[in-house]
Amino acid sequence: MIKYLGSKRRLIPSIVGAVAALPEARSVLDLFSGTSRVGLALKASGYRVVANDHNAYAATLARCYVQADRERLLSDASTLVAELNALPGSPGYFTETWCERSRFFQPKNGERVDAIRESIARRGFDPELEAVLLTSLMEAADRVDSTTGLQMAYLKEWAPRAHQDLALRVPELLSRAQHGAGEALQQDALVAAEREVDVAYLDPPYNQHKYLGNYHIWESLVLWDKPEVYGRACKRVDCRTRSSPFNSRPRFVEAMRAVIGRVRARWLVVSFSDEGYVTREEMEAMLATRGEVRVIAHDYKRYVGAQIGIYNPAGEKVGRVGHLRNREFLFVVG
Ligand SMILES: C[S@@+](CC[C@H](N)C(=O)[O-])C[C@H]1O[C@@H](n2cnc3c(N)ncnc32)[C@H](O)[C@@H]1O
Repeated sequence: MIKYLGSKRRLIPSIVGAVAALPEARSVLDLFSGTSRVGLALKASGYRVVANDHNAYAATLARCYVQADRERLLSDASTLVAELNALPGSPGYFTETWCERSRFFQPKNGERVDAIRESIARRGFDPELEAVLLTSLMEAADRVDSTTGLQMAYLKEWAPRAHQDLALRVPELLSRAQHGAGEALQQDALVAAEREVDVAYLDPPYNQHKYLGNYHIWESLVLWDKPEVYGRACKRVDCRTRSSPFNSRPRFVEAMRAVIGRVRARWLVVSFSDEGYVTREEMEAMLATRGEVRVIAHDYKRYVGAQIGIYNPAGEKVGRVGHLRNREFLFVVG
């Protein structure tokens, strides 16, 4: 899966365990699906999953991991991945934008991304097969990028992995879940919240770091609309205008309250961290409007940058490390 800010990789067993403890739950809405790794794990446990995210790249990941079923797509996907892997490079928009104007990828890999993406666009596959191939391409490009995992900047010196050759793999495809077909949506959380399900899982952004700005290359690769770009990172121009209230301190509480009130599920499971815009107590108070709230807390080492401290370009330590650990909360409500 792609490197992703706020990905719940380590929390999956806890999330799946919390949902499994809810009696007679069969369907789960993942309202802020990101990489879809939570949806994938829930699908593997038999739940009918509806995964939603407002960004196109995340909806594509959800179509691949939650909606597409192995029995229908694995054979075609395997043949096509082998075919696309054999295409020679052909420089185009991707190479010019993210290998020449900026340095996120080596040109040898950018040229292959261009050739593969153009081939996918030309052939007009059905949406699920296309999503599987685009997921394969995104993940292959992610394995040879030259970033720290965020696309707001590329590294000054090439990351060692950027020298490797791009190689597509068939993404993990699961058979249709016991409780029914999965579905991917690309809607605002407030709209998707109206889907009726047994459990709603909420993992909203909790600070000012916008997902579109941090993953703009995936958005452009999926949409393939070859947009005008700006700045050193060559971000798509709509990064300036598309936004989420969950990234705004003054708007967060109102947006969260609205989603909590609108969700049509018997239970809510909510991820939040002690580094977010509201405290554990404030979140508990908002959730208490929906029923009894139980809290499971996980204690983690903070990300590596926070462990090392803050340095200026001359290599001098300029900031103090505030704290070395953070807590991730899982609220179970209902
Ligand atoms: C913390 S991440 C979710 C991570 C995910 N659980 C995972 O494990 O990969 C939050 C997600 O919310 C999405 N998002 C932000 N604002 C949104 C909104 N208003 N409606 C729908 N999705 C939104 C972002 O695109 C991002 O993928």
